[in-house]
Amino acid sequence: MVYYTKCDKETEECGRALAQRLSDAGCRRALIAMRGEMGVGKTAFTRGFASYFGIDGVRSPTFTVVNEYHGKANIYHFDMYRITDGDDLYSIGYDDYIEKDGYSIIEWSENIEEYLPSDAIFVKISRTVGDESKREIVIDYDNSCI
Ligand SMILES: Nc1ncnc2c1ncn2[C@@H]1O[C@H](COP(=O)(O)OP(=O)(O)OP(=O)(O)O)[C@@H](O)[C@H]1O
Ligand SMILES: [Mg+2]
Repeated sequence: MVYYTKCDKETEECGRALAQRLSDAGCRRALIAMRGEMGVGKTAFTRGFASYFGIDGVRSPTFTVVNEYHGKANIYHFDMYRITDGDDLYSIGYDDYIEKDGYSIIEWSENIEEYLPSDAIFVKISRTVGDESKREIVIDYDNSCI
């Protein structure tokens, strides 16, 4: 699925729509692997996703690696920008988190490619040429839940 957005609110809306889709499908646990360069809108997408579950104020977890939110669903929001190997992942409890009830949303998932499960939902956000605030969002998955 491909979407185009023109501002951060529209990207949030796109995240919210994915949350609704998972929720409607009864899919209580999923890993969303976000890809895309700095400042492209990964946190905006996550903010919208979380808002569907009544969670407000999602901000980038850059300095903490993972932020945990508990609303109508649990959300584990990771920023893997500084994660470079499996030892780092182990020390933040990644393996345990992704087995928990709820949604793991991972910024900079490019950095942990080999540790992503095969049923991950990939969300790739890219800038488009010519328009400063236009984004292309590609959502791609092989997940029997949705
Ligand atoms: N269509 C758009 N969608 C999302 N954000 C947009 C869009 N157009 C402009 N922006 C701006 O781009 C920025 C996106 O910031 P955001 O923190 O969501 O990016 P990020 O991908 O999480 O960055 P980082 O890699 O630093 O974590 C915001 O300043 C936002 O206002
Ligand atoms: Mg971010």
